[in-house]
Amino acid sequence: MSAKFNPEKFQEGLKTKLFGKYLFFSREVASTNDWAKELEALGAPEGTVVMAETQTAGRGRFGRRWFSPKGGLWFSLILKPMLRPEETVKLVFLASLAATETLRGLYGLKAETKWPNDVLVDGRKVCGILSEMKTTGERVECAIIGVGVNANFDVESTFSQELKAYATSLQTLLGKQVALEELFRVLLEKMESFYMGFLTEGFTQILEKWKSYASFLGSKVEVSSEGEKLEGTALDVDRDGALVLRLEDGSVRRVFVGELSLKY
Ligand code: BTN
Repeated sequence: MSAKFNPEKFQEGLKTKLFGKYLFFSREVASTNDWAKELEALGAPEGTVVMAETQTAGRGRFGRRWFSPKGGLWFSLILKPMLRPEETVKLVFLASLAATETLRGLYGLKAETKWPNDVLVDGRKVCGILSEMKTTGERVECAIIGVGVNANFDVESTFSQELKAYATSLQTLLGKQVALEELFRVLLEKMESFYMGFLTEGFTQILEKWKSYASFLGSKVEVSSEGEKLEGTALDVDRDGALVLRLEDGSVRRVFVGELSLKY
């Protein structure tokens, strides 16, 4: 199977109404999120997707570097929902739910969601989501949803020792490469269907599904949040997307921003 992404083959079979109808593809960019922002400023409509074979300055949350070698699925989607800035986190849930169900449905992997933006298989990260937005006052003008799936590269020969400890790839998990066009198509179709559902029916049904794949709920966790280290039990994720933690002194705390790791 060719690991080279074929944009025509991808668009031919795409069954979405909006997502990916405008597709920009490049062999290499700095970051697809930055490229999507530039295109949006030039008038690109909602549903525009940009994708690259490699990123030279791929970004993760908290400004971290996102390693983006050839073979991965690196793309960003432009959305223009009527949301307040604090609600855009819901788009991250919707995207990670779509990725989780895609990996389960296509490859039979036991993919799980991890608060707030990760998709894990066997405890290792296989997909991350980065949402960025442009706002005017209390209104979101556009949200850029960047999605990275570690797909067709071998972790052993590609990742640093540090990365190997907490991340993996589809190729390593499955022992073979996957068809990137199919992966991307199914993922985008799911994202669109969840997005339309979210706009018409609200966030609850997305969140409930997302939680059904969240095995960290009920476990002891450690959360780094805005310079603080919190330890406790992950009780829930509430309708604002906040993690509800029972701290060791018995008090309950809602955490809006942070990084969660399981405590064994
Ligand atoms: C994270 O887990 O910290 C988020 C990672 C998001 C990576 C994707 S790859 C496509 C898009 N472009 C970027 O620069 N980042 C996102």
